Amino acid sequence: MNLNFSTEIGFAKGLDRIDPLAEYRNKFLIPKHNQNKSLYFTGNSLGLQPKITAQYISEVLGDWAKYGVEGHLMAQKPWLPYHEFVAKDLANVVGALESEVVAMGSLTANLHFLMVSFYRPEGKKRKIVIEKSAFPSDIYAVKSQIKYHGGNPETDLIILQPDKSDAIISEASIIKLLNEQKDEIALVLIGGVNYYSGQAFDMQMIALECRKLDIVCGFDLAHAAGNLKLELHEWAPDFAAWCSYKYLNAGPGAIAGIFIHQRHHGKDLPRFEGWWGHNKETRFLMGPDFEPINSAEAWQHSNPPIFQLAALRASLSLFAGAGGMTNLRKKSIELTSYLEFMLENIGSKAIEIITPKEVSKRGCQLSIRVKKANKSVYNAITKEGVIADWREPDVIRVAPVPLYNSFEDVYQFTQILAKALKK
Ligand SMILES: Cc1ncc(COP(=O)(O)O)c(C=O)c1O
Repeated sequence: MNLNFSTEIGFAKGLDRIDPLAEYRNKFLIPKHNQNKSLYFTGNSLGLQPKITAQYISEVLGDWAKYGVEGHLMAQKPWLPYHEFVAKDLANVVGALESEVVAMGSLTANLHFLMVSFYRPEGKKRKIVIEKSAFPSDIYAVKSQIKYHGGNPETDLIILQPDKSDAIISEASIIKLLNEQKDEIALVLIGGVNYYSGQAFDMQMIALECRKLDIVCGFDLAHAAGNLKLELHEWAPDFAAWCSYKYLNAGPGAIAGIFIHQRHHGKDLPRFEGWWGHNKETRFLMGPDFEPINSAEAWQHSNPPIFQLAALRASLSLFAGAGGMTNLRKKSIELTSYLEFMLENIGSKAIEIITPKEVSKRGCQLSIRVKKANKSVYNAITKEGVIADWREPDVIRVAPVPLYNSFEDVYQFTQILAKALKK
């Protein structure tokens, strides 16, 4: 990491000049503000559109026009096995075996399907642990699962509380809680990166502790997939799920993804089943009995949306081309550290970064608390072409993304923010 940052614009331009990934910025469509490119920092919400996505989607449109139903077998990339064409790149992005991942469905629905298999309350071991400020959909999902199993969210849901500041939860406090209540905890479901604070949890440590204590472990990787360098196979949580519209740039409402660790494949687990999870050799014999595929694919239900898979395939090809998460994470660490440096150099007491300072405890996002009791600063930067996002009551989230943000973007953003803070 470059620790000798400078506040000069020439320094930012110089970093862009030597950035080995700089060419990737030109592979994305960046929304305009007036005549210029906006300063886009919301890859944590909706990633930008790769220019090649249109080509991948029009290939499917063309094959549909040419072949009709026969496109299932005759399309350039046949639709029948189309989801398999993303498996390798997807597995690489999350550090899994190909057999452990599948692109399917949508995030919240997938979390429910995974909990059907992995939240199995029994006797007094029935509690779910989730972090404070988890994304609301996850909280609704776990509470409704508890109720579905006849439990009471008031007593069966443990919300991990931050220990010092009002946002950050230490791993030590998580490990302590798991050990204290191991006989009552059935499932830990944590966001790998918290959507609000930007805190990245030590997933390896949490998964390991859960295994030692016989607790099922799952991660919501909505803010981690395509952001951190994940090693899911090695860390060995039981399951994980993510969406693909944030850092994976697969478009609004994109097809999501799941990970099921290899040790659960081919096991007789409870599961909600559908024909796309059935043995491919015999699927079209249309028999009445379900034979699961011996991989994460067994969790699929329906034949998947090919246009969405095409968009995901387009985007994942860029991840592969850029040399994968090792290269992206390297730039990401520099870009976010530079953002932090520039924010600290604004010298304003009106802002505070609530995301952890340690590089290993965060991804690309910094969450900036604005100590003014209204949205005026956020509104002012928006007028100047910054696309960031506001989370009530007082946080601006900014996520410089290594595939398409430049160091100069970060420089310009901090100048605009400094001006807005002086108003
Ligand atoms: C951490 C997290 N979990 C769940 C969701 C909900 O996702 P979906 O609407 O795709 O189910 C989001 C959406 O942004 C999220 O950030």
